[in-house]
Amino acid sequence: MGLNRIAVMGAGAVGSYFGGMLARAGMAVTLIGRRAHVEAVARDGLFIDSIHFQERVSVAASTQLDAARNAELVLFCVKTRDTESAARALAPHLASGAIVVSLQNGVDNVARIKAASGIAALPAVVYVAASMPVPGRVKHAGRGDLVIGSLDSGEQRREDLERVTECFARAGVPCRVSQNIEGDLWTKLIINCAGNAVTALGRSSYGRAAQNEHSRQVMAATANEAIAVARAAGVQLPPGDLVAAGLKLAQDMGQATSSTAQDIQRGKRTEIDALNGFIARHGAELGVPTPVNHTLFALVKLLEEELSG
Ligand SMILES: NC(=O)c1ccc[n+]([C@@H]2O[C@H](COP(=O)([O-])OP(=O)(O)OC[C@H]3O[C@@H](n4cnc5c(N)ncnc54)[C@H](OP(=O)(O)O)[C@@H]3O)[C@@H](O)[C@H]2O)c1
Repeated sequence: MGLNRIAVMGAGAVGSYFGGMLARAGMAVTLIGRRAHVEAVARDGLFIDSIHFQERVSVAASTQLDAARNAELVLFCVKTRDTESAARALAPHLASGAIVVSLQNGVDNVARIKAASGIAALPAVVYVAASMPVPGRVKHAGRGDLVIGSLDSGEQRREDLERVTECFARAGVPCRVSQNIEGDLWTKLIINCAGNAVTALGRSSYGRAAQNEHSRQVMAATANEAIAVARAAGVQLPPGDLVAAGLKLAQDMGQATSSTAQDIQRGKRTEIDALNGFIARHGAELGVPTPVNHTLFALVKLLEEELSG
């Protein structure tokens, strides 16, 4: 049976974009988020300002977690700093058999969700450029595809993955099942580690940071450390030159800025603990030196401290 009742836990940019796409395709979606966004969506619908279309989509919205109680699929879309608290808040309201998919950056969200709440989520790698300029409105500036997989095997997991991909396919959202989701999650992490902190600290776009000879060297060194940590942890990274691919991607992103840069600009806490901080901690555990990642992590933490007063 196809999945039709969907809840989004943490309806910000990513949750509203992917939840909005499913609602636009006719599925019964409920966005669970903060008051201002929920009120705007309940009043006027969700406005999706996409690179492909501009449309107002009718979608349910609530600030209450029990709105997830009938959901067959829950998209778990909070920032990594809220992973545990959101998982704990969601768990009592989850229907038995509901599939939860983590649409977050970082590589350890599924383990953290499980440890905090017992929920066995599936991980997804999210490739999208989305933002919420004002409540009720989501801006889609690029891509919009997902890679999902399971970190453990079994018939039930295989069926769940098929049902999730079929659901996104109905909405025209490219969603591929990976046989090496761990490697794919780490690939995105390595790219985030290379670009996010450097662009935040240097107040730069991705494109400028990748062009400047010195920041380019820092980005390459950051990625190489993260790759060494992945290898020491036994992660099978996809073949090819990840450093070159990451720098090319940054160059192609041109004027875009990283989410870390945007968080700092808005005076919000960043996801740095799950990015360069994760690499520094994991490197220390595995005996892999990560001085560049540790430095970037420490500097972003200092900035965060200053911004939070
Ligand atoms: N945006 C992108 O283009 C993009 C691309 C790829 C990957 N990602 C990843 O996707 C994940 C989500 O990012 P995002 O940009 O969508 O973040 P976001 O816009 O901050 O959305 C998360 C939303 O969840 C809300 N929230 C947190 N805890 C909640 C709770 N207990 N109940 C209800 N709402 C709650 C947050 O509210 P508060 O802010 O008030 O806490 C926020 O509105 C991150 O891991 C990010 O790295 C994002």
